[in-house]
Amino acid sequence: MAFVEWDNRYSVNNSAMDEHHRRLFDIVNAVHEAVWAKHDRTKLGDIVQTLRQHSEAHFSAEEEAMRRHDYPGHDDHCREHRLLLEGLAGLERRLKAEDRAVGLDMLHFLLRDWLVIHILTHDKQYAPYLRSAAG
Ligand SMILES: [Fe+2]
Repeated sequence: MAFVEWDNRYSVNNSAMDEHHRRLFDIVNAVHEAVWAKHDRTKLGDIVQTLRQHSEAHFSAEEEAMRRHDYPGHDDHCREHRLLLEGLAGLERRLKAEDRAVGLDMLHFLLRDWLVIHILTHDKQYAPYLRSAAG
């Protein structure tokens, strides 16, 4: 059974963004699996690299969609994206430095800051603006 599962509560009423978010859930599950199974650091490092690529591509797509639909909270939302990427960069540095507690801290960061605070609060706020838009 998956550690976290996407469901409709997370929907931002935009199929492309929902698809990106589902992919993020898959990545969080892979991080959980790597931490729980005590896989070596290389495995976690590979997953984190995928997470970075995914989030950079996803954030630019989201920012572009918000711009296109004149979402008034665009600038604040971009700031939140930068903070998430900075948080991720800090964890990547700790992973490189072989900090043993980084896996659990990463899960905590992904669950609290990303899935709950970011998607359920910040992303939800743009939903009415992007509703009915394909991308
Ligand atoms: Fe976002």
